[in-house]
Amino acid sequence: MTYKTRNMAALWCVSVRLGRVCRCSNRIIASRRNLSEHKSSDETDKEEGTEKSTHFGFESINESEKTGKVHEVFSNVASKYDVMNDAMSLGVHRLWKDRFMQVLDPLPGTRLLDVAGGTGDIAFRFINWIKEKELQQKKASPGAEFRLNPLETDDSESAPDLEFPSAEDYLYSEQREDTTGTDDRKDSKVIICDINQSMLEVGKERAKKLGLEDDVVWVTGNAEELPFPDNSVDAYTIAFGIRNVTHIEKVLCEAYRVLTPGGRFLCLEFSQVSNPLLSSVYDLYSFQVIPVLGELIASDWKSYQYLVESIRKFPNQEEFAEMIREAGFRMVSYENLTSGVAAIHSGFKI
Ligand SMILES: C[S@@+](CC[C@H](N)C(=O)[O-])C[C@H]1O[C@@H](n2cnc3c(N)ncnc32)[C@H](O)[C@@H]1O
Repeated sequence: MTYKTRNMAALWCVSVRLGRVCRCSNRIIASRRNLSEHKSSDETDKEEGTEKSTHFGFESINESEKTGKVHEVFSNVASKYDVMNDAMSLGVHRLWKDRFMQVLDPLPGTRLLDVAGGTGDIAFRFINWIKEKELQQKKASPGAEFRLNPLETDDSESAPDLEFPSAEDYLYSEQREDTTGTDDRKDSKVIICDINQSMLEVGKERAKKLGLEDDVVWVTGNAEELPFPDNSVDAYTIAFGIRNVTHIEKVLCEAYRVLTPGGRFLCLEFSQVSNPLLSSVYDLYSFQVIPVLGELIASDWKSYQYLVESIRKFPNQEEFAEMIREAGFRMVSYENLTSGVAAIHSGFKI
């Protein structure tokens, strides 16, 4: 890195601290001290016309290949994704996700963006959580009305004005932007954004079966370039999605951008088990059992081999917390689940 580039990176850091601004490309330059060496070799690569490499599980591939390969994995597993989750974790992923929602503890009126939302586990929990809260609030003060979906009100005459928006309405309507942050908006919203249409299709089917199809807006999009305006959601969640992306820093910057000031970033992801004994058992289980289950249940050894390898390539709890801080978030903290098999990371845009 040249002297000039270093200065620019430092200046950028200061502007982020002062203005709470996050710009992905500069952030990558200024962040992650341990990437600085790679950076110079990357620059050399660029000059030589070669491409940066990244990991796909334990395999090293060109960066431009990763999204496609990850896409293929989730297209292959989509129809068996939910049953495999239960089989691999013996149902424990449900407890982690319940805990995740407990930590988020959303209030009626929250606009949630669930990125890499796949088949809807987090969004459905959010909807049920809000409905439960609404019931409690109704009981506490019968006059007050909070709704996840205004179409569900008894007063059908008011429905046309309050129609739950389509993704386009939600994202681009002037009216929505005008009302953002005002006190009279009481309707919660949840958008699931995922890069893989097959996962979303499975999610939509599930939503229908659960009677929740009108409560969710489904958007196909890349976490690294979210198709949402700045400051447009109160909470951003990503569960078991971020380790699959090509540039974690870009995803964090995008999360920061779309969140309103005061908004919360919450991530559930596999992490590092610190207890050596437990770690060996976990490794044994991961590498010896999970691909076999993948083959037996989903006829897909390779995708589940990727799953366990990708977990090992993901930064540990502290490293990831630091990346979240570097994206501009404050009050960053994490909580280990099942001795660190998974962890919930939290940060606020303040
Ligand atoms: C392991 S699944 C998690 C699904 C869901 N959040 C859950 O907890 O069950 C990972 C999801 O990340 C999505 N994904 C991977 N890369 C993505 C990207 N760059 N942008 C958006 N979604 C992505 C995949 O399509 C897949 O649906």
